[in-house]
Amino acid sequence: MSDQLHVDLLPQSIWEEAVPYEALAQLRREAPVYWHEEPDGPGFWAITRHADIKQISKDPGRFSSHEAGVSRLDLTEPMELAAYRQVVIAMDPPEHGQLRGLISKAFTPRAINGLEPAIREIAQKAIRAAVERREVDFVQEYAAAIPMHVISEMMGVPEDKSLRLAEMSSALIDDQDPEIAPTADSRQNAQIETLTIAMELAQRELADPGDNLTARLLQAEFEGRRLTEGEFGMFFLFLIVAGNETTRTAMTGGLITLLDHPDQLAAIHNDPSLIPRAVEETLRYWPPIHHFRRTAMCDVELRGRQIRKGDKALMWYPAANRDESVFDDPDRFDIRRTPNDHLSFGFGEHFCLGASLARLELRVMYEELLRHVSEIVPLAKPRRLRSNLINGIKEMRVELRPK
Ligand code: HEM
Repeated sequence: MSDQLHVDLLPQSIWEEAVPYEALAQLRREAPVYWHEEPDGPGFWAITRHADIKQISKDPGRFSSHEAGVSRLDLTEPMELAAYRQVVIAMDPPEHGQLRGLISKAFTPRAINGLEPAIREIAQKAIRAAVERREVDFVQEYAAAIPMHVISEMMGVPEDKSLRLAEMSSALIDDQDPEIAPTADSRQNAQIETLTIAMELAQRELADPGDNLTARLLQAEFEGRRLTEGEFGMFFLFLIVAGNETTRTAMTGGLITLLDHPDQLAAIHNDPSLIPRAVEETLRYWPPIHHFRRTAMCDVELRGRQIRKGDKALMWYPAANRDESVFDDPDRFDIRRTPNDHLSFGFGEHFCLGASLARLELRVMYEELLRHVSEIVPLAKPRRLRSNLINGIKEMRVELRPK
């Protein structure tokens, strides 16, 4: 199963520097289904073409999310795997459809659009405070503050627990970076603390249901069944991670990209109606997630390569988003690009359930940022996260000049 090319996508030090777009482009052109060795596992197929990622994503019968989850490394503890498999992202049909149907009831366009005034209020409060301080870390003071508040508000999490959950969310997903998760136990402790908050919340909402997503999720019925408390706990844990790091990364990465293209930043400043398209292009150009995994359930031939039953396949979203067969001049950042069929929210069965919420949050965050600020001046090079999973920024010091 050896390949002529030798590309190593795993060292975190590479991603800490920058997304290795050249290596990804070489794979996409010369070895789109590439057998990649792993120091800590049996190896995986690196999938880099847009069409192949789409094909795999819509074929859960042959490429499972449930078999071993969507992370590169296998969970070795059977209990841990069993708990993880209760989460919607790690399910296959028909269970996936049932649970997704149930959860989607809380993510209707009406429910999401109804959140706009609350999101705007949170964004306005955050930007006013940041502008007053003038020199700030954009990640903490704006990009991270808003998604966490929004999820907390949606779920009915008490204010005092919200900030703590933001820390937990980083420790849960950014655990490749020793600065964020310094000890081997950091992730596990964060998991326990988050689940405890989830259980307290579930008990409160079962006893006295409020007007929030937690109460609606616990009451929702789909095909005659309700979420168990355990399923709710795992879903809560997942949502804290899925909705936080991704949206904050999209916001920060998007702003970095716009600052690198001042003419396009000026264009959305002058005409905010361009913001929704700019959001899509920043998502294409700076996908918050580098890859997700599937496990082959049978032997499959793809572009002449033999994928064997049990092999894992990693779908590299940054590679798909620069696929020249789909995007004209793919390395060019263009807020007016249309159509823009990027895969940053995935595709098919597991297409991001929070995509419209994330799009709404990002639109409102840009609108409020540009309404309050005349100029954004970088004060230092943004510090990237050490991770081959999340395209994150740990710190971005900027001066926000008020209007
Ligand atoms: C810019 C922000 C976001 C990005 C880039 C993103 C990305 C993704 C991707 C790539 C998937 C597909 C996973 C797969 O195919 O295995 C996914 C699934 C999911 N996302 Fe997001 N996400 C974002 C924001 C959110 C938010 C705000 C929420 C909710 C509050 C959310 C909830 C979910 C859920 C529940 C799933 C699983 C859907 C399923 O398995 O059927 N995401 N997301």
